[in-house]
Amino acid sequence: MNLVQHLKIGFIGAGNMTSVMIRRLLESSEVKAENIWVSNRTPGKLMKLKDQWNINAASDNEEVVDHTQILFLSVKPQDFSSAIEPIASLLQPDQIVASLLAGIDFGTLEKTLPHSRLVRVMPNTPSALGKGVIGYCLNDEGDEGANVIMEELLAPLGYVVAMEEGDMFDALTISCSSGTGFVLELMSYWQDWIEERGFSPEVAKKMTLETFLGATLMAQTESKVSLEELQQRVTSKKGVTAAGLDSMRELELERVLRLSFEKAWMRNQELSRLTNNANPK
Ligand SMILES: NC(=O)c1ccc[n+]([C@@H]2O[C@H](COP(=O)([O-])OP(=O)(O)OC[C@H]3O[C@@H](n4cnc5c(N)ncnc54)[C@H](OP(=O)(O)O)[C@@H]3O)[C@@H](O)[C@H]2O)c1
Repeated sequence: MNLVQHLKIGFIGAGNMTSVMIRRLLESSEVKAENIWVSNRTPGKLMKLKDQWNINAASDNEEVVDHTQILFLSVKPQDFSSAIEPIASLLQPDQIVASLLAGIDFGTLEKTLPHSRLVRVMPNTPSALGKGVIGYCLNDEGDEGANVIMEELLAPLGYVVAMEEGDMFDALTISCSSGTGFVLELMSYWQDWIEERGFSPEVAKKMTLETFLGATLMAQTESKVSLEELQQRVTSKKGVTAAGLDSMRELELERVLRLSFEKAWMRNQELSRLTNNANPK
């Protein structure tokens, strides 16, 4: 039985992430447009979403609260207080409030929404293709009902991972959300090197994409085999691949990447501190 098929789902904020989520939910046929309610500060993006998907365009945030069982907060973190404080007293204790707001922790959410079933959700850009890594955590880990709903509702966005708030949630943000940007950085070096050897930019890009995609699909197909073992299978002793890998290890590529992850981690902590201080507990 599809649990979410009859669920009434709300979005406060009709921006990029709401648009991605609505598209994935409707294309997966798990959810019906008539069960989705959306509000926005100004009408432009909301009307576009309504025209495109035939969802319910609410005249204000209160209307979304009135009609829905789960409510996604999809405004920018700096708009949290102005968007949420006016509706806080309207929320019923059984409504689930799922915050997409990067950096706003449960401490801050609970200050404004002390009686709500709260969830933090971290999607990323490839979620638009159903290939994101989506982390979520609950303020009450014993809320099995919310757990089941989140697993089912988020599945069309990609690989869903439940975890506790804190280091693991931050690690997912760095490795998967920022990680998408890091992988693209590596891919651009690949493309440059190929281009410098005479290939056109189009061909060089395609060669790069297929190399990353091929390695990923191979690892996915051989899911029981470790990445190290797969690497050994494509590397003969003292061969060409081995020479390249030896150099990467001598030059400490791993150290460069780890340091970059740490830098991103520190910036994430700093932004989170600033955001939560701007919305004090
Ligand atoms: N985009 C991503 O890849 C991504 C990834 C992870 C997490 N997130 C999180 O998702 C949230 C949304 O991000 P986004 O990229 O979708 O932002 P966005 O495109 O800027 O959308 C935010 C929307 O919120 C609306 N809004 C602002 N105040 C409001 C209010 N009081 N009532 C109703 N609507 C209001 C804005 O309306 P106007 O049209 O009037 O400005 C805007 O359409 C953020 O908190 C972000 O941290 C995003």
